[in-house]
Amino acid sequence: MALKQPLLFLLLSMSMMIHLSEGEKLSTDYYKSSCPSALDIIRNTIVDKQITSPTTAAGTVRLFFHDCFVGGCDASVLVSSNSFNKGERDADDNLSLPGDGFDAIVRAKTALELTCPGVVSCSDILAVAARDLITMVGGPFYNVPLGRKDSITAKVTDVKGNLPQPTMPMSDLIALFAKKGFSVRDMVALSGAHTIGFSHCSQFAHRIYNYSNTQSYDPSLNPRYAEGLQKACSTYHKDPSMSAFNDVMTPSKFDNMYFQNLPRGLGLLDSDHALIADDRTKGLVETYAANQTAFFEDFVQAIEKLGLYGVKTGNQGEVRKRCDAFNSLDTHN
Ligand SMILES: *[C@@H]1O[C@H](CO)[C@@H](O)[C@H](O)[C@H]1NC(C)=O
Ligand SMILES: *[C@@H]1O[C@H](CO)[C@@H](O)[C@H](O)[C@H]1NC(C)=O
Ligand SMILES: *[C@@H]1O[C@H](CO)[C@@H](O)[C@H](O)[C@H]1NC(C)=O
Repeated sequence: MALKQPLLFLLLSMSMMIHLSEGEKLSTDYYKSSCPSALDIIRNTIVDKQITSPTTAAGTVRLFFHDCFVGGCDASVLVSSNSFNKGERDADDNLSLPGDGFDAIVRAKTALELTCPGVVSCSDILAVAARDLITMVGGPFYNVPLGRKDSITAKVTDVKGNLPQPTMPMSDLIALFAKKGFSVRDMVALSGAHTIGFSHCSQFAHRIYNYSNTQSYDPSLNPRYAEGLQKACSTYHKDPSMSAFNDVMTPSKFDNMYFQNLPRGLGLLDSDHALIADDRTKGLVETYAANQTAFFEDFVQAIEKLGLYGVKTGNQGEVRKRCDAFNSLDTHN
């Protein structure tokens, strides 16, 4: 195992380089002459949307992660299902993909198509929007290299086994990230995005109701927090959209409070709590809880890496006219 892992890393990073060199290189000024106002248009649309719907930031970051982790950052997650093809976004766990994120991207795309039709890809819009929203709610700024093409396929079956699930054991989570070239440090830093996240009650109901024969909730939860969650989720069977913030203290601010919460029993999901319970991740949680700068530095490294994962360039993809549909019905399936 100790030998296999680095080899896997090496192979993955080599294939990523080859992949990139086949097409064009990404660059931060990719749209400088073809659509000079692209970044301003995206930012203005996103800022408006976040002000009217404060869950946009969490929804968009979640969407970006989901998109990149399933077959690369290629906007495949945005494609709607139709009668021929069930899209990636309609996977079983699509409840966790909130509509605000989709809507933010659609709005930015609509505005861009008026100014520079057919130029700016949906995958670039999603990458920039996630960055702008993270920065807007208090997180770090980082550069987003551009020039991604949008995928010409998106299948619900691509999702299987590619996304971290809240009840996965830590070893499986680490293996899932490692398979895609992400270290334990990347994984813990990216989990810090839960500082603005929320999760549906069904994802943690087993922790707060009928936990065992003798305990109604998971004893690793702070008792007052557990009782609050029991109340907040009391009718989730009837209303599956009921949810709770992953960072109960400062849910709308991108900060290191998520990590400070974990040792206090304020981790919402099993996978949140596991970060402080497992020796492989505990030290990083403690570092980030004590030092927000350290968290932001590692988060930037990890999300920049995420934004390059499996990107398509040149003729490996297209610039979609609409983010929720391929340009031609015949180019896929
Ligand atoms: C995913 O969400 C859509 C609505 O956005 C819904 O119609 C569909 O049934 C959902 N899929 C699953 C498997 O829950
Ligand atoms: C917990 O278990 C009891 C007894 O089996 C059951 O009546 C009750 O509905 C359960 N509560 C929840 C929230 O699942
Ligand atoms: C916090 O982390 C940053 C970045 O790693 C480091 O430069 C700084 O010295 C740390 N501050 C403290 C008080 O440890």
